[in-house]
Order: sequence, then C-alpha cells, then structure tokens
Amino acid sequence: MVQVQAFLNGEYMPLEECHISPLDRGFIFGDGIYELLPVYKNKPFYLQQHLSRLERSIGEIRINNPYTKSEWEALVETLIQQSSDDNLAIYIQVTRGIAPRDHAFPKDAAASVFAMANPLAIVPQEQLQKGVALITAKDERWQRCDIKVISLLANILAIQDAVQASAVEAIMVRNGFALEGAASNLFVVRDGEVFTHPKDNLILPGITRDFVLELLSELNIPYTEQLIPKEWLYSADEIWITSSTKEVLAATKIDQQVVGNGAPGEVWEKTHALYQQRKMQAPF
Ligand SMILES: Cc1ncc(COP(=O)(O)O)c(C=O)c1O
Repeated sequence: MVQVQAFLNGEYMPLEECHISPLDRGFIFGDGIYELLPVYKNKPFYLQQHLSRLERSIGEIRINNPYTKSEWEALVETLIQQSSDDNLAIYIQVTRGIAPRDHAFPKDAAASVFAMANPLAIVPQEQLQKGVALITAKDERWQRCDIKVISLLANILAIQDAVQASAVEAIMVRNGFALEGAASNLFVVRDGEVFTHPKDNLILPGITRDFVLELLSELNIPYTEQLIPKEWLYSADEIWITSSTKEVLAATKIDQQVVGNGAPGEVWEKTHALYQQRKMQAPF
C-alpha cells in the first residue's frame, strides 16, 4: 500500500500517525475550510490560484492565517518531495483549532492545519468515452457556497442521492436555476455556445472552471457566464462538469434523460483534448 504523506500542525508524518483532539472545532462544529489541488508530474497545478482561494476562505471565516504565502508554498513542495507518486491530490484543511466546546470563537486557540498528499485518481477511460450520468438535486446548502468550507453535509446528501441513482454527481438547483455540481462546476452547451454560472456567492469559484474558460477563449469557442435555467439541462447539446479531480468530464444522462445524442459532444472533445495538452504547462 502506498504510504500517504501528511502534515499536522508543523510536523510531517505518515497519515496514520496523525492524531488530533476531538475538541478540534473541525470535528465538533465543522468549523474550518479546505483546499484541494492536483499535482501533475511533481508540479502543482495553478498553485497560486489555489493558495489565493485558500487564503480567501481562511479570511472569510475569520481565522487568523497561520502561515505566510511562502510557508504555504513550502508545505505543498515538501509534501510533493516526500511522496513517491508524481501525480497527487493535495488536500489542505484549516480549522479554528482546539478549544472547549462553545459556539463563539475561542479567544486564544491556534488554527489547526492538516494536509495530506494522496495519489491522484485517474478519471476512468470508460467515463471519458461514454460520459457520466447526473441527477439534479434541490440545493440545500447555505448562501456562502463561494467559501470552501469543510461542513459539506448538504453536498454529501446530494452526492449520495446521485450514487443511489447510479449517477456520479448531483447538479444543485436553486430557484429554478442549475448552479453547479455538489463537488464540481457546471457547463452547458447550446448551439455551439458554452454557458456556466457566474462567480457569485452561490457557487465555488472553481480553478478548473477558470482554466476551461481560458481554453475556450484559446479555441475561439464562445461562452457566456450567466444563470442557467434548469430546463436547459434537458435540451442541452452537451453538459460537462469540471473539478480538480474530474478535470472536464462530459455527462450523457441527466435525471435518466439522454443528453444531446447520448455521447460526449464535439465541443467537449476539443476542450478536453486541449486540457490534456495544457495541464502539464499550467503556471504554478
Ligand atoms: C461545490 C464545488 N464546486 C466546484 C468545485 C470545483 O472546484 P475546482 O475546479 O477548484 O476543483 C468543487 C471542488 O471540490 C466543489 O466542491
């Protein structure tokens, strides 16, 4: 079994040696944030964007950022060096620390920082060739989906509904609009134009989403960031989901209905091909 390298509060160690108090506010309240970034051939993908989002999440929930930017960079670099795999998914979590259980912020707790570097799971070839199935789900999350918080109960329940319907992801629908997946962003193609929800408080600003928009510009494929009516999902030519681990993945079924002609579409094919070419050259 591959040993997973981890970091806990200033020390590097194998994952199984990490222990943390049950009074950590991450455990007791889900009071924390996280980040996940892929590493391709030992190079972290869009590291600066991931660290900026991490620092923003920390600030938005009013935790004192325990590290400087260069200390965060060093943490990521050290985990890469210590890991035997070249392709990794680095998970970083920051909580408000360990304190007697009380909802109000503790006066003197230091933030807890945990990180681990797991081998990056490859998207199965069958999913790439045939596309995946999605369901829609009522968005039961709070109103600050732009912060990458560890309290993910609404997302977990939605994804479990998807799994039970033999689908891989649930598209969150709020007030009649399809916003994003429970763990991914959403793209819809109609008549050659690509649509995705604008960056606001109702979606996570995905790093992969930004990368895909850059690729669309490069391919001269028109795109618009706008609200997507739920009904568009059932008349779309193509639907894609994007995330650090799924990259850009075509969906060929939604709520048991066939999307487009039932196969990953040509706009997806072009975008995915360029994605595979460019991901190794992404800035870090
Ligand atoms: C709710 C949600 N939206 C979008 C994304 C995609 O973000 P990224 O492309 O930065 O992985 C994620 C990733 O975990 C997510 O949880």
